[in-house]
Amino acid sequence: MGQTTSKTQTGGPEAAALAITPPQIVGPFYPVSERPDLANDLTRPNGSTAEAQGQLIHVRGRVLNRSGAPVPHARIDIWQANAAGKYRHPSDTNPAPLDPNFKGFARLTTDASGHYSFRTIKPGRYPTPEGDVRPPHIHLTIEGQFDCLVTQLYFAGEGDNATDRWLNAAPHPERLIVTLQPLSHLEKHELVAQFDIVLANG
Ligand SMILES: [Fe+2]
Repeated sequence: MGQTTSKTQTGGPEAAALAITPPQIVGPFYPVSERPDLANDLTRPNGSTAEAQGQLIHVRGRVLNRSGAPVPHARIDIWQANAAGKYRHPSDTNPAPLDPNFKGFARLTTDASGHYSFRTIKPGRYPTPEGDVRPPHIHLTIEGQFDCLVTQLYFAGEGDNATDRWLNAAPHPERLIVTLQPLSHLEKHELVAQFDIVLANG
């Protein structure tokens, strides 16, 4: 998952350097003609009362530097396909339908402790024009004070993970894979995943 340690000793000023989150390609579907929602609920774009179709999920985590210090006020852009695997993007030729209640593009900022969270739907897998099938994934860019990381988040248990060229090009693919779990006993239909993001310098 998002965060692992490359040193596990305790104590000492040089201890506990975190492993940097692997980068991924931007891909062809960064929104070019949309404005991001400046909210952390992608399932209700523009304050809509209708909800996007799909499995509701929450993604939570912190943005840290490799020393473990939080990165406050980092800007996070999120973009993703809808539950049918379709991006709201003019270059997406997938014949799957758009969801009128899902834009799939939002911009967040981490708080003073480096925390962020957002609610969305699990994106669908989709075919590429080259004949690949991409597993469900969420694109993110993270702009800290010193670093800009572009990456993608994937989900455990997806059969297409094993063959995805982009995921498996990462130096440590497992750091990009999250596990969805029930949000709470009250919200059994919503799932939550933890994804900590480690920048080199913050
Ligand atoms: Fe994608």
